[in-house]
Amino acid sequence: MLVTRFFPADAFKGTTVFVTGGGSGINLGIAKNFAALGANVAICGRKQDKLDRAAEELRALGAKVHAEAADVRDAARLETVIGNAAAALGPIGVLVCGAAGNFPVPAEELSPNGFKTVVDIDLIGSFNATRAAFEQLKATKGSVIFISAGMAYVPFPYQVHVGAAKAGIDMMMKNLALEWGKYGIRANSIVPGPIEGTEGMKRLGGGDYESSRYRSIPLGRFGAVDEIGQAAVFLASPLAAYITGTVLVVDGGSNLAGSTLFGQAIEAMRGAP
Ligand code: COA
Repeated sequence: MLVTRFFPADAFKGTTVFVTGGGSGINLGIAKNFAALGANVAICGRKQDKLDRAAEELRALGAKVHAEAADVRDAARLETVIGNAAAALGPIGVLVCGAAGNFPVPAEELSPNGFKTVVDIDLIGSFNATRAAFEQLKATKGSVIFISAGMAYVPFPYQVHVGAAKAGIDMMMKNLALEWGKYGIRANSIVPGPIEGTEGMKRLGGGDYESSRYRSIPLGRFGAVDEIGQAAVFLASPLAAYITGTVLVVDGGSNLAGSTLFGQAIEAMRGAP
């Protein structure tokens, strides 16, 4: 893992990192990057068996782990699990709000409940986690990292629900950075671009880069899960001590083409001309 070549192996020793949606994908990749640097890692998600498998991977990297099921839409349950994680591992110093839901659908076919479901998971779920962890973050002078998306600032076809939720996340992040700076708490967002092998890319028309509609990404490839993990480690580290209220775009320059590449990929996946 590249991060261990540039950070000391004990860079996050004694720090508890809590990752929502940490059972797979980008979020598990983030958890692993912190685990490799000595952090204690807590993960939550909807399915305990998935979390248990992820926990084994994290323990194999040497981390103390707490893995307990909680749907971020259930604020009371999430608060309990965040409390349990702190009791097991120590107060949370880094909170990563990564739990998300997505399905591409034309706005006119999306039901009000479908729209609400994504806003509930992404936006309100992120607030629930942040609110529940506040006292711990205050005690540790911690850092919150939200996983946003390009949909937050560029309109993408069939993503009206996701765009609204992610734009909300980035504005919430800025509000929290403003209000909680006085407690020493930093808040930032990461915008991952197309990341290889993730659930998101399966859902959003990924596949092999060369034969995909994404093939004009300026850096000429999909991103790797670890590259988002590395960005999270940087933002949580003392190297970023004066960085708060920012959106860090980690996308190989994909956003420079606007939503064109994504739109083509989605149309191809849906079989449209
Ligand atoms: N197209 C249109 N509407 C959809 C849909 C789709 N593909 N999938 C769900 N919905 C709508 C449902 O129709 C329902 O609305 P309705 O009651 O008006 O019919 C609403 O969304 C809730 O659906 P439900 O299946 O009950 O929600 P859920 O909470 O069980 O699951 C997700 C929703 C988003 C969590 C689910 O799609 C999921 O598990 N996704 C995997 C994780 C993920 O999306 N990761 C994204 C990584 S980018």
